Amino acid sequence: MTERTIPIAIFAAVSENNVIGRDGDMPWKLSTDLKRFKAMTLGKPMVLGRKTLESFGGKPLPGRPHVVVTRNAALAIDGVEVVTSLAAALERAVEIAAATGAEEIGVIGGGEIYAQAMDVVDRLYITHVETLIDDGDTFFPKIDPALFDKVEETVVPAGEKDSFPTRFAVYHRRTAAN
Ligand SMILES: NC(=O)c1ccc[n+]([C@@H]2O[C@H](COP(=O)([O-])OP(=O)(O)OC[C@H]3O[C@@H](n4cnc5c(N)ncnc54)[C@H](OP(=O)(O)O)[C@@H]3O)[C@@H](O)[C@H]2O)c1
Repeated sequence: MTERTIPIAIFAAVSENNVIGRDGDMPWKLSTDLKRFKAMTLGKPMVLGRKTLESFGGKPLPGRPHVVVTRNAALAIDGVEVVTSLAAALERAVEIAAATGAEEIGVIGGGEIYAQAMDVVDRLYITHVETLIDDGDTFFPKIDPALFDKVEETVVPAGEKDSFPTRFAVYHRRTAAN
């Protein structure tokens, strides 16, 4: 991966106590955020864990090539590529991006995949959901400010179809130069 030029970005919606999931789903409805997520990810290769694909009803999101990570080498799912390691998923996503001209790769969850991807991603697109979720069962890893610099933050009031207000933040991995 040393010669990679295509940036890899995490996309996640995270509560104030770092919850991202509950009972195989997200513990909120955030229509405004889903629209932004769709606009930002259309056409880009998506890397995700098998359980997150299940949370989509077992089907890929339209308009985005999916590379799904599982330890089950025999798994075959219509409409997605299946690989057996995160490294293989990122490698395949880079190939797809190079072939299609996509400018970024999205790592879209869930908790297990985020935890493993934090060491290699270049950017984080984090929707900070302004609530505490007491009964969450899946979490986002700590964002270390020594490693990631918050470069942008936008306040997003709750719309009619949003459970909570949010703040959409962009973090870039710090380099030796900054
Ligand atoms: N808030 C958000 O932005 C957001 C985004 C995405 C998902 N979520 C939520 O997160 C939850 C799902 O997350 P999760 O942590 O339970 O599962 P996950 O990360 O989506 O998937 C876990 C699965 O990925 C495979 N896997 C993980 N590491 C692997 C490795 N190193 N090599 C090969 N395969 C590997 C395994 O699949 P096998 O078991 O098939 O081997 C594992 O069971 C759901 O509640 C979902 O709604 C929230």
